[in-house]
Amino acid sequence: MIAFTLNGKPVQVDVSPKTPLLWVLRDTLGATGTKFGCGAGLCGACTVHVGGEATRSCLTDVGTVEGKSVTTIEGLGTGKLHVLQEAWLAEDVSQCGYCQPGQIMSAAALLAAKPHPSDAEIDDALSGNLCRCGTYPRIRAAVRRAAGVVR
Ligand code: FES
Ligand code: FES
Repeated sequence: MIAFTLNGKPVQVDVSPKTPLLWVLRDTLGATGTKFGCGAGLCGACTVHVGGEATRSCLTDVGTVEGKSVTTIEGLGTGKLHVLQEAWLAEDVSQCGYCQPGQIMSAAALLAAKPHPSDAEIDDALSGNLCRCGTYPRIRAAVRRAAGVVR
């Protein structure tokens, strides 16, 4: 058994410690908000927080999160939408939407570490999150809105 905290609740899973966290989240625990894109650390669709750090869950063995706190898009807001999710809606960011949970999780880690990032810092923090629909300008606008930065 591997025990960790998922979105504030203790969970235990009976899987090989080598199983990618992404599959445990989606298939074992039913948290399907986290998406599979490339499975190789290249697209960012699978981004979650482990101990508050933006982490590619496709490359993370579940055994390495034993005893740690994992947050997915389902647990980002606590009882209501996270400020980033509100900003995403206000800026109408999503197109197909597939990449957006990963985008938001990367942005949330950025704002937690740096509440008022520059455009360069936003671009840098999200550079590993690909969007085939090209929503990058709206993503940046939403992060700015969430940060309360008026430019
Ligand atoms: S699915 Fe993990 S980085 Fe693409
Ligand atoms: S909104 Fe379609 S891939 Fe980003």
